[in-house]
Amino acid sequence: MTIPSQHAARIVDPKAYADGSIYETYKWLRRNDPLGWVRDAAYDPFRVVTRYQDVQEISRQNQLFHNGPNAVLTSIASKKKMQEITGGNSSPIKSLVDMDPPQHEKYRSLTSSWFQPGNLRNFEGSIRTIARALVADMLATGGECDFAKVVSFRYPLLVIMLILGLPPEDEALMLKLTQEMFGSTDPELNARGNSTLSIKDDDAKLDLSAITAMMQYFDKLTAERRASPTSDLASVIANARIDGEPIPYLEMMGYYVISATAGHDTTSASTGGAMWALAENPGEFAKLKADPSLLSGLVDEAIRWTTPVKHFMRRAVEDTEVGGIPVARDDWLMLCYGSANRDDDAFPDPDSFRIDRKPNRHVAFGYGAHLCLGQYLGRLEMRILFEELLPHLKSVELAGPPAMSEALFVNGPKRVPIRFTPN
Ligand code: HEM
Repeated sequence: MTIPSQHAARIVDPKAYADGSIYETYKWLRRNDPLGWVRDAAYDPFRVVTRYQDVQEISRQNQLFHNGPNAVLTSIASKKKMQEITGGNSSPIKSLVDMDPPQHEKYRSLTSSWFQPGNLRNFEGSIRTIARALVADMLATGGECDFAKVVSFRYPLLVIMLILGLPPEDEALMLKLTQEMFGSTDPELNARGNSTLSIKDDDAKLDLSAITAMMQYFDKLTAERRASPTSDLASVIANARIDGEPIPYLEMMGYYVISATAGHDTTSASTGGAMWALAENPGEFAKLKADPSLLSGLVDEAIRWTTPVKHFMRRAVEDTEVGGIPVARDDWLMLCYGSANRDDDAFPDPDSFRIDRKPNRHVAFGYGAHLCLGQYLGRLEMRILFEELLPHLKSVELAGPPAMSEALFVNGPKRVPIRFTPN
C-alpha cells in the first residue's frame, strides 16, 4: 500500500526525527502497513520496513537484499549530481556499507579482527585518559552544563583520532573535513559547527573540495604508515592486501572515511542519550548508583533508546517475500532501526528506559553481514566514560528542555542541559 500522506511526509522530514513524531508514524506503520510505500517526488519510490522481525529477516539475507548502489536514502537530484561529478557513480568513494557479496566480505575481513575486544583492550588506557579529561571539564562547570557540548559531541572524535593514529593537533581539521563532507541537515548544528553529521541528506552539502582535501590528508598518512607501520587502524588499512594486491585507491579512501565518520555522531548520540535518560529517570540513576554492575545494561539500553542510526537501505535482487508480504525484485527498502527497537512484539514497554532490560537484543547496530564493525568500540567508549563519571555524580536532573538534531539518517541529542551535584 501507499502510506497515507501525513505519515509518508514524516518519513522524509528531518524535523519529525527531532520532535519525536516519527515514533507515532512508526507505530502506525507497524500495526497497519509494515512494508508500506513512500511515493515522494524527490525520491525513487521505497518501502518502509518497521517491524523488528522484518528488519532482521532482510538484514540476515545479504545475498538477496543488497546495499549498493545507495545504502542511505538519497534524493533523485543528489544521485544525478553525484553521477555528473563522478562520471557515472552514485558515490565518490566506495565504503563497506556500499558493498555486497563477494566484495564486502573480503574488505570487512581486513579489519574485523582489529575491531575485536581483544585488540581494543590495548587502547583502553588511552581512551580512559580522554574520558577523564572530559569528566574533569564537566566537573569544572560547577554543577550545570550542556552535556552535549562539554562531553558527548567531543568524546568520539577524540577516540577516533586515537584509533586511527592521528595527532591530537589535527582534531579541528578532522572535524572540519568530516563536517564539510557530511554537512548536517540541522540548521542550528550547521551554524554552531558541531559534529552531528548526516550523510547525503542534503545534496547542497556534497562538497567535492572537502573530499579532495580529505583524500590528500589520507594519502600522506598512507605513505607514513607504509614506511613505518604501528598498531593503529590506519596502519592496517594502508598495508591491506586483497588477493595479494594493495587495495584500490577509492576503496582505500572509503575505508579511511568510514572509519573516521561511522563512529562519530553515532557514539555522540548514544552517549548524550544515556545522560538525557538518566537525568529524566532518577529511579534508573539510583539503581545504577546502587549497583554499578548495571553499567553494561545502561550502555545497551541507551543505544536502543536513542537508536542513533535511523535507517539503512536495501534493494531486493529477486522476487521474494518478507513476513508473508510479497516483495518484488528491485524494490528499495528502508530498514527503520528506530521502529524495530520500539516494537512491542520484541520489547515489553518499549518506550520506557530500563537499564536492567533483559534480554535487550536491539538492532541499533544493525544485523547480519553488515552488523556494525565498531559495536565493541562504541560500547567500550560509553562504558569507560560512565565508569569515570558516575563516582563523581551524586545526582543529576535536566536543567532545561533537551533537544534532538534534525536528520533522517543519524540523529540524536544536540542539547542536554543538566544540573548535577558532584560527590
Ligand atoms: C553507538 C554507536 C554506533 C551505532 C549505533 C552504530 C550503528 C551502525 C549501524 C546501524 C550499521 C549498519 C549495520 C547494518 O547494515 O546491519 C553500522 C555499520 C558500521 N559501523 Fe557502526 N555504529 C556505532 C559505532 C561505530 C563505531 C565506534 C565505529 C568505528 C569507528 C563504527 C564503524 C562501523 C562500520 C565500519 C560499519 C560498516 C560495516 C559493514 O558494512 O560491514 N560504528 N553501524
